[in-house]
Amino acid sequence: MKKTKKIDAFNDSKIKVPFVLPEITSNDKKIILQVLNNNLLTDGPNLKNFENKFAKFTGSKYAIGVSNATAALQLSLKAIGIGKGDEVIVPDITFVATANAVIFTNATPVIADVSEDDFNISLSSIEKSITKRTKAIIPVHFAGKPCQMLKIKNLAKKYNLKIIEDCAHGIGSRINKKHVGTFGETGCFSFYPTKNLTTFEGGMVITNSKKIAEKIKLLRNHGIMKSLQDRFSNKGKPWDYDVLLPGYNYRLDEIRSALGANQLKRLIPNNKKRQNAFHYYNLSLKKKIGLITPKMEKNEVHSCHLYVLRIKKSKSYSRDMVFQKFLKNGIRSSVHYKPLHEFSVYKKYGKTNSKKLFKEFLSLPLYPQITKKQQNLVIKNL
Ligand SMILES: Cc1ncc(COP(=O)(O)O)c(C=O)c1O
Repeated sequence: MKKTKKIDAFNDSKIKVPFVLPEITSNDKKIILQVLNNNLLTDGPNLKNFENKFAKFTGSKYAIGVSNATAALQLSLKAIGIGKGDEVIVPDITFVATANAVIFTNATPVIADVSEDDFNISLSSIEKSITKRTKAIIPVHFAGKPCQMLKIKNLAKKYNLKIIEDCAHGIGSRINKKHVGTFGETGCFSFYPTKNLTTFEGGMVITNSKKIAEKIKLLRNHGIMKSLQDRFSNKGKPWDYDVLLPGYNYRLDEIRSALGANQLKRLIPNNKKRQNAFHYYNLSLKKKIGLITPKMEKNEVHSCHLYVLRIKKSKSYSRDMVFQKFLKNGIRSSVHYKPLHEFSVYKKYGKTNSKKLFKEFLSLPLYPQITKKQQNLVIKNL
């Protein structure tokens, strides 16, 4: 095959430490080429295999591959019956997709505060946000740090609320060995290129409920229960299927599924590399005045998707100044996230205290391939 020139999409030629670095190995490429030799390119055996492996990895009964985590959240909310007139509580610090998914179901997102401790949704703020119309909570395992799921579950039980877990950052995150996403009705994962496992675009829903799994399978496939393979088996006529409800096309194709299953094989060693890099930052930065390093609890596994540092503003420096200095010296960093209530479209859905936190946040480069030399450069510049 002719070698093509690599596109420098981020203008990274002068960058010594990129912010993220997706890992597509030669074996991943081989697997993708193998799928291209098949004639079944969607809704086939690679999807089934990835779903089975993902269910086993997370310890859930069912896993349903979908086109992205936003679709996973939307279908989960629909499957548990969220609709017009309902309220769903979401944290202020999250990617906008968490709230968008609520709007897609015609329900209203209610924005809650996050805790200063771990930047996850605050229990007291959830309780304050509950009204007669509240039907569900979407805790987000921000940066890969698990939310306090047992306490959130108790609250949900007290007020008869459902839980949909946003696990976009939490592939491999566990509380007392139990994988995130298995505490609520469903758990929703993202395989976007920055995530710990990527299928370029892609997502997965996990659930222990047969009823929810079947509804989501229907919704992702135009409302048709039969798979392509079922329809083209020798027993039936391919056109002989029923449509049980108006569904979407949110399927995960065969190439992405095969890539996902292959990436899942090295998720644990890759997360371990992320965890080592996370500890190295913590060890080197925790004593520096003006910096607050992120926490990791003993009973939890943190996927270390993001390393979110807090930089307390002083007379001589601020978060934005550090960001600029990094860039000048060849280091890319980022900020996760601008609070939901700061966006024009979400202003009317609640105001919280997270603006102060947001101004201090800086996400440092973190990925399995990061070297000590690169981390030392980041530390030196801080
Ligand atoms: C917390 C969170 N929720 C949801 C999503 C949406 O994921 P996707 O891009 O797969 O739709 C993301 C994506 O970055 C995310 O970070």
